[in-house]
Amino acid sequence: MYGVIFDLLRSYVIERHGGRATWDALLDEAGIGYKVYFPVAQYPDEEIVKLATTASQMLKVPLTAVLEDFGKFVGPSLVTYYEMFVRPEWRTFEVLENASAKIHDAIHRYNPKRNPPELRATRIDDQHMKLTYQSDRKLCFVAKGIILGLSQKFGERIEVRETQCMHHGAQRCHFEITHHGDVSPQRRDEFWS
Ligand code: HEM
Repeated sequence: MYGVIFDLLRSYVIERHGGRATWDALLDEAGIGYKVYFPVAQYPDEEIVKLATTASQMLKVPLTAVLEDFGKFVGPSLVTYYEMFVRPEWRTFEVLENASAKIHDAIHRYNPKRNPPELRATRIDDQHMKLTYQSDRKLCFVAKGIILGLSQKFGERIEVRETQCMHHGAQRCHFEITHHGDVSPQRRDEFWS
């Protein structure tokens, strides 16, 4: 997994869970010790799993909730970090439609060891979309959080239901996504303040 995800995990822990001391304690507790993650370098997938599992134990929060909350943080951050791949007029549905072919594939194009998640979005109508997710990493909770994080960033009221999951033996996770309209400008400002 690219270091950018580890770096975002570091920012997430520092911003949302007690600062630098918590991040250092987490690295220690996970048996990793002092380490700097470089965004474009690749690190073992097991390391992110170990960090997330340890964070869940330290925070006494279920792993699924930690992963989803991390996803909510990651969604808006990825749009900012990879601004060049995201058209300014896109909102949640457009990002989902382009996440595989235009975003993940572009990021991984020159990496022979690439293993990006497979995302397939099907728009049913203006309010409804279906999304399938497949990855050996089985990080569907992160995917759900990313969708919710994107909707907060774009000021949309979006509901996500996972109707089929790889953790229950399915080949792919299926999400049903409903757009319930936009949040008021005031609530949007609150999110960003
Ligand atoms: C601007 C939009 C996005 C950008 C720039 C982006 C970028 C990335 C990058 C760089 C990684 C690390 C991949 C690796 O190391 O192999 C990643 C992983 C991931 N992305 Fe995205 N992504 C975007 C949108 C999305 C969306 C919309 C979803 C799901 C709804 C998603 C789901 C995931 C998941 C679950 C992972 C963890 C790796 C895995 O499951 O295999 N991403 N993304």
